[in-house]
Amino acid sequence: MRTRTKLLTFAPAMLLVWAAWPQTATSGKSGPEYTSDGEFRLPADYRGWVYLSSGFDMSYNPAAQTNHHMFDNVFVNPEAWRAFLQTGRWPDKTVLVLEARGAESRGSINQKGNFQGAAVMGLEVHVKDQSRFPGKWGFFGFSGSSTAAKMIPLTENCYSCHNDHGAVDSTFVQFYPTLMPIAKQKGTLEAAYEKETQNR
Ligand code: HEC
Repeated sequence: MRTRTKLLTFAPAMLLVWAAWPQTATSGKSGPEYTSDGEFRLPADYRGWVYLSSGFDMSYNPAAQTNHHMFDNVFVNPEAWRAFLQTGRWPDKTVLVLEARGAESRGSINQKGNFQGAAVMGLEVHVKDQSRFPGKWGFFGFSGSSTAAKMIPLTENCYSCHNDHGAVDSTFVQFYPTLMPIAKQKGTLEAAYEKETQNR
């Protein structure tokens, strides 16, 4: 009888602890996972992560011409997002996912403008794993139905563009509207980024 009363008294407290515990959209941790041969596993539940922004027809090449419009959506794992809110920096084990979708204009009641198509046209991932990657961060690309990928070599332009132009720690926080004010407030913008924007 005594234990039972005790348990009942503890129940609300335990519920509070559970509610305050950092949780992902599903359960467990949301950091990077690898296969036994070292490939990065595409996080299956990234769509339940924290949404940062969508780009529309963004292009790094002024001459780029495409005959179809594209959206990209950026997501980050909840633990990393919480740490960023506190510090303006990405912690180790940050995973950022960029998902590309085609823009559609004809469908249902839509008369103007674009909405996102159901098919994922590309998935790219940026992972901070300091003890694993030589430059602390690794890039990965997924195509078709692949669920694991090898690191994109350091010689690819993903690294140079992100390092040279990303506002915070090689990520494009300047395009993530809820994070940019935090980076400014915490003073974590890269000097190169500040210089680049001054000269514009
Ligand atoms: C010339 C510059 C440039 C190059 C090259 C580039 N990116 Fe990016 N990348 C960007 C910009 C700009 C964004 C912001 C997109 C947005 O706001 O929607 C971005 C965002 C991302 C993100 C979201 C997380 C983050 O770091 O901000 C990932 C993942 C990503 N790129 C992967 C890649 C991969 C993989 C490659 C190489 C195959 C690559 N990028 C090459 C400019 C570049």
